[in-house]
Amino acid sequence: MKFISKSPEDTIEIGEKLAKRLKKGDVVALFGDFGSGKTVLTKGIAKGLGLKDTRYVNSPSFVIIKEHKGKVPLYHFDLYRLDRPHSLDSVGYDDYFYGDGVTVIEWAERVKKELPPKHVEIRLAVMGDSKRKIVIKKR
Ligand SMILES: Nc1ncnc2c1ncn2[C@@H]1O[C@H](COP(=O)(O)OP(=O)(O)O)[C@@H](O)[C@H]1O
Ligand SMILES: [Mg+2]
Repeated sequence: MKFISKSPEDTIEIGEKLAKRLKKGDVVALFGDFGSGKTVLTKGIAKGLGLKDTRYVNSPSFVIIKEHKGKVPLYHFDLYRLDRPHSLDSVGYDDYFYGDGVTVIEWAERVKKELPPKHVEIRLAVMGDSKRKIVIKKR
């Protein structure tokens, strides 16, 4: 599926709709540059999973993983600060991947080889000031 988003609100809505089709144990891998909308999309997913207050769905400064308790828990990984590709082991990530919530991973390019074979791949790209291309594929 391919979407063109024309505003952050559009991107939130795309995330919200996607979340309705997600279930416990699903992993969503986000690929794309800085500012392409990965965090905005994650807020939309959080909203769609029933999280009331999405203010804290942001890019944390020091932590790699943040857990949000919606109707379905959201495990939000931001791997920008991950030093080496394999340091993900130290996070105990498979407990999350195969846990009771939905996992969303920003900067998934850093752990491409460690992603579970079944995941949702989302590629975001900046097309203009407020235009973003969002391509969703089920792997
Ligand atoms: N259509 C759009 N979708 C998402 N974000 C947009 C869009 N248009 C402009 N923006 C802006 O782009 C930035 C995206 O930031 P963010 O989601 O943090 O990116 P990333 O997590 O990929 O680095 C925000 O400042 C947001 O307001
Ligand atoms: Mg981000």
